[in-house]
Amino acid sequence: MRRDGTITPLLSPMTHASAPAKLILCGEHAVVYHRPALAVPLNEIRAHATIAPGRGPLTIEARDLNMVFAPADAPDHPLSALIRDTLRFTGVEENAPLRLTLTSDIPIASGMGSGAAIATAIVRALCAHTNTALSPAELSALVYASEQRLHGTPSGIDNAVVAFGQPIWFCRIPATNGTAPPPDIQPILIGQPIQLVVGDTGVRSPTHAPVGAVRQGWQAAPAHYNAIFDDIAGCVVAARQALADGDIAVLGPLLSRNHALLQQLGVSSPELDRLVDAAHHAGALGAKLSGAGWGGVMLALTTPDRTDDIGAALRQAGAVRVLSTQVGS
Ligand code: PMV
Repeated sequence: MRRDGTITPLLSPMTHASAPAKLILCGEHAVVYHRPALAVPLNEIRAHATIAPGRGPLTIEARDLNMVFAPADAPDHPLSALIRDTLRFTGVEENAPLRLTLTSDIPIASGMGSGAAIATAIVRALCAHTNTALSPAELSALVYASEQRLHGTPSGIDNAVVAFGQPIWFCRIPATNGTAPPPDIQPILIGQPIQLVVGDTGVRSPTHAPVGAVRQGWQAAPAHYNAIFDDIAGCVVAARQALADGDIAVLGPLLSRNHALLQQLGVSSPELDRLVDAAHHAGALGAKLSGAGWGGVMLALTTPDRTDDIGAALRQAGAVRVLSTQVGS
């Protein structure tokens, strides 16, 4: 029964939903400071949420994350708050007898948006189970609140790209009178599908650490950091045009330039630089770290015929996991 007294139509005994990982193609970090960025969903790897009727109050089981708990017993857990918000959105009682099972193929703290994907899968599953309509903007807002609980000051790009499920341009709009307007989110045109190879350093790096270091640097030397953010924004604007034109010869060097600027921000690492160098030597058109940095993944732009060679070079340079994906197909 919903709070308003109407009967909740629980259509199926079990409901499954999923959400993709994501890659930031260009513009990370600067995007926190109101510069634009480009992100794409990575549909090959996903987080999954399954809801089944339970015996007692709602429980969450995430064996991959070594996590089994009842949100009622851990009200401060970020997932408990997300579930509370979502159930409030659906109008379903908070102590509904449900069992929520989570699994994910997305490595955590690796720059691939694992937290946003898990949260998105949860919201989608709860809404589908309770037959509640959900727009991408509503989904994105629920997941953004969850990201804020986890990371403090997320730009919102992860929840946006995962919720919209397509390549996007994302830009935060500065607050006026203390209220932040919604971000500018636009689907981007991909003139020709592009081929990316992703290499995982295997180094887990929680987002808030490099984000906090950049904030400290920016507070100490705002003009220097703002100039780097502006250069990154220049790469993003040009990269969007190159994607629309299907011009990978232009796009590649822009990605590599973005990596050099991220190095200047101090968010790369020896492992990431090794993979980026290996990709270049193996013939990538461009390569950069992706996500918050200090670990996690990098991406290389290539042509389909070079994919295997670049993947092999990344493995040889220490990547613990390599995958390739086509964007815009
Ligand atoms: O590492 P991830 O996937 O959480 O990406 C972080 C992207 C940043 O721009 C560094 C932070 C943000 O909130 O946009």
